Amino acid sequence: MAEKATAKTAVLQTETRIFEPPADLVDNSNVMQWMKKKGFKTEKEMRSWCSENYVEFWDEMAKKYVDWFEPYTTVMDNSEMPYFKWFTGGKVNMTYNAVDRHAASDKKDKLAYIFVPEPTDQETQKITYGELAKEVNKLANGLKSLGVEKDDRVSLYMPMIPQLPIAMLACAKIGAIHSIVFSGFSAKGFGDRVKDCEAKVAITTDGFYRRGKAMPLKAQADEAIADAPSVEHLVVYKRTGIDVDWKDGRDIWWDDLIEGKSDECEAVPLDPEHRLFILYTSGTTGKPKGIEHAVGGYCVAPAQTLDWVFDIKEDDIWWCTADIGWITGHSYIVYGPLVLGCTSMIYEGSPDYPDFGRWYKIIEDNKVTIIYTAPTAIRMLMKQGSKWPEKYDLTSLRLLGSVGEPINPEAWIWYRKNFGADKLQIMDTWWQTESGTFINSPLPITPLKPGSCTFPLPGYNATIYDELGNEVPLGEGGNIVQPTPWPSMLRAFYKDTERYQKEYWSVYWDTPKRGTYLAGDKATRDKDGYFWIQGRIDDVLSVAGHRIANAEVESAIVAHPSVAESAVVGKPDEIKGESIVAFVTVITGVEETDDLKKDIRTFVRKSLGPVAMPSEIHFVPDLPKTRSGKIMRRVIKAQSLGKPTGDVSALANPEAVETIPLIV
Ligand code: PRX
Repeated sequence: MAEKATAKTAVLQTETRIFEPPADLVDNSNVMQWMKKKGFKTEKEMRSWCSENYVEFWDEMAKKYVDWFEPYTTVMDNSEMPYFKWFTGGKVNMTYNAVDRHAASDKKDKLAYIFVPEPTDQETQKITYGELAKEVNKLANGLKSLGVEKDDRVSLYMPMIPQLPIAMLACAKIGAIHSIVFSGFSAKGFGDRVKDCEAKVAITTDGFYRRGKAMPLKAQADEAIADAPSVEHLVVYKRTGIDVDWKDGRDIWWDDLIEGKSDECEAVPLDPEHRLFILYTSGTTGKPKGIEHAVGGYCVAPAQTLDWVFDIKEDDIWWCTADIGWITGHSYIVYGPLVLGCTSMIYEGSPDYPDFGRWYKIIEDNKVTIIYTAPTAIRMLMKQGSKWPEKYDLTSLRLLGSVGEPINPEAWIWYRKNFGADKLQIMDTWWQTESGTFINSPLPITPLKPGSCTFPLPGYNATIYDELGNEVPLGEGGNIVQPTPWPSMLRAFYKDTERYQKEYWSVYWDTPKRGTYLAGDKATRDKDGYFWIQGRIDDVLSVAGHRIANAEVESAIVAHPSVAESAVVGKPDEIKGESIVAFVTVITGVEETDDLKKDIRTFVRKSLGPVAMPSEIHFVPDLPKTRSGKIMRRVIKAQSLGKPTGDVSALANPEAVETIPLIV
């Protein structure tokens, strides 16, 4: 990646629509209250001050959002770049901040979670902060009885049930480091990660529900752990009651482990740089890397960003639809909302079970006020049409959010119209597993442009550099970077410091901008300074001397009324360097004809110009995607060029690879 972080990208797309925030949203927003207190007149002035004075800003936020057992003595320490440290000298505990202090206050009876099981004949479960505290403590005591101590790693391989946050919080309480592996991963995917982090204990379930069926999970865990000598115990939560194999001495049922354990447990005061968790990310390329996050920064920044961006109020029902196994779930289903003492939804299953009305029904039944989801989910629902949202009452919603990929304006408008009655603002948050929190995002006070993640949040300094570390002028594209550290940033890769330094810090190390974080995405800013993410650096196309961002071409294709999704790749071309080849899935019911191909090409030519027009269009039934819903262009490119597809362990739908035709 680092070697390719050179040339600038062309800017083809121009979006002119602006959606002003309604006055009552602005006036009542959390950020506006703070601005008034501080005397800031405009959003721009406020964002600039907070970003310039980011150390002072985060100091204030750390004191506002977190209770420290011992106060920190240094806000930020950059003496060992790129190993930045935050809030050193203090002592803190995540679970104390996320649960205990609420359970000991008048929030004791407030709901922490509303859990909706997938099977429609199972009751919704409501868990208060007081109940959550007890469950966490019992499990923490159970883990201690298995010999788990501070710094030990515990691997969690669990579906979307409340026991997953309970397990995370139990680890965090005693200073053990959790490492969640998304339960959709295969035995091998789980095994590689358990072995890499040398977990002492693993926690799983007998099975989980998916599209109405009880599916096994322990069986995969057994296979993975057979080959992971560090694992002394496997704790099993009974979710479905399906048969499981049992290894005496190693395996223990969750219920037996907590049986008779005290529901009180002291939170261990931890150094703020103590590792809260390791989360493996494969990104879209290469071997999984174990990203380490630290407890101090994590207590502060997910809560602060959630509070300002999604404007959390005491009676909100917050629904982040991500799986807790991804960073979005870590930060915005577990740690952020709990530190704020807010009520969150957890839904166990699939959005199309028993039908495509499920998400809308969950919103209606539970009066969800804010929903935060991904473009891939929005496009999937969009493919099914408006007839589903029309059947349900979605008027409880007051704010919408998006994350994970650039959201094409077409999907943005559909989301606003169908979830938001054509009037709700959409917070398009750009960030990464590595960042731990949103970096660029609108606030409720920000005028929106569909498809733009707007500006760096207060306390962040994202900008766009060329390869030498010069800021590129407005209207041009380049590498989106973070020149200054932030509290929830990754601290390292587990046992691989060299790769950590090379991937994120090497490009600008020998320039005057040493210490600048390279995010790995291309981006551009328009004349008003709005940021537009153009996709991963590695996915940029090079056509006749132009560096063209895949995201722009894909967005233009998806704007065609017959298209559901699209991925573009570069095919080697003797004259142009690369020509653009598009793989396209169509809206349900649309016929895949040559005329439609022609029409799509003309459509792109009209919206972006001839240079971005695909030379070939191929219809496919499905696009290969990661389990978090990102299109795997690397795999599509290799398959279509007849090359080895490499590591495909992160794919959710490996069968889609075979349907990608050869283009050479
Ligand atoms: O390419 C960007 C894209 O997702 C990458 C980070 O992926 P991951 O670590 O899996 O984290 C996903 C959840 C934060 C980024 O480098 N990405 C994420 N959000 C956006 C985005 N691209 C454009 N717009 C977004 N809002």
